Amino acid sequence: MQRQPEPELMEGAQQVQVYADADFGAGDAHTLSLLNGLLERTGALPPTPSLVDLGCGPGNITLRLAQAFPEARVIGVDGSAAMLAIARRRASELDLNVEFRCCDLRCLNDLGADLVTSNSLLHHLHQPDLLWRTTIAIAAPGCRVLHRDLRRPASIEALDQLQQRHLGEAPALLVRDFRASLVAAFEIQEVNDQLLEAGLGSWSVEPEDDRYLVVSGLVN
Ligand SMILES: C[S@@+](CC[C@H](N)C(=O)[O-])C[C@H]1O[C@@H](n2cnc3c(N)ncnc32)[C@H](O)[C@@H]1O
Repeated sequence: MQRQPEPELMEGAQQVQVYADADFGAGDAHTLSLLNGLLERTGALPPTPSLVDLGCGPGNITLRLAQAFPEARVIGVDGSAAMLAIARRRASELDLNVEFRCCDLRCLNDLGADLVTSNSLLHHLHQPDLLWRTTIAIAAPGCRVLHRDLRRPASIEALDQLQQRHLGEAPALLVRDFRASLVAAFEIQEVNDQLLEAGLGSWSVEPEDDRYLVVSGLVN
């Protein structure tokens, strides 16, 4: 199936609310367990690490990071003010100290990050190398990297099956966005090619269940 990009930022009030209300808890918990696995394999973080969640949306992963690593400086970045308004409110309700930055990835520079992560961001980017360049630009040497995203199914029939399996009773707007996201997503081979092109051929790209891929590695 041919890739069809979708808008980068999620800014529509209704779209943002439907996304924020959706239950991604199981996938979010899995992302945290993948991050913990990466840290087990690569060694402990420094005592007061900087952790950056790119395309953080309503803070689903950012808030979990702040809870799991209370000693860390946690930064969530998103270009959508509407998403960040929800993320900030949630952080405040949970009394979590998180720094949210409302800016496009293109505006970021060195953050001295010890860990850079993203969840469901890559498929939004019109030029995927933006994620790889940004990760390198904001990282400290030795930075751990884990980006998890949807992967594009081979056909419309496969996409229909994924929708039925995972979003049977979901709101229409969420279904629309899920389908658009899958069509905008990359295949594993495409991500491997992007990493090679960016000089990041040592990073791995692994499939996760029937619709995700996980990129992980270290910044030299
Ligand atoms: C599908 S949401 C994922 C939100 C969150 N990471 C999660 O796991 O629920 C993708 C987010 O990436 C943001 N985004 C997309 N392109 C971006 C860019 N170029 N710069 C900053 N944020 C971007 C969107 O605004 C949106 O909030």
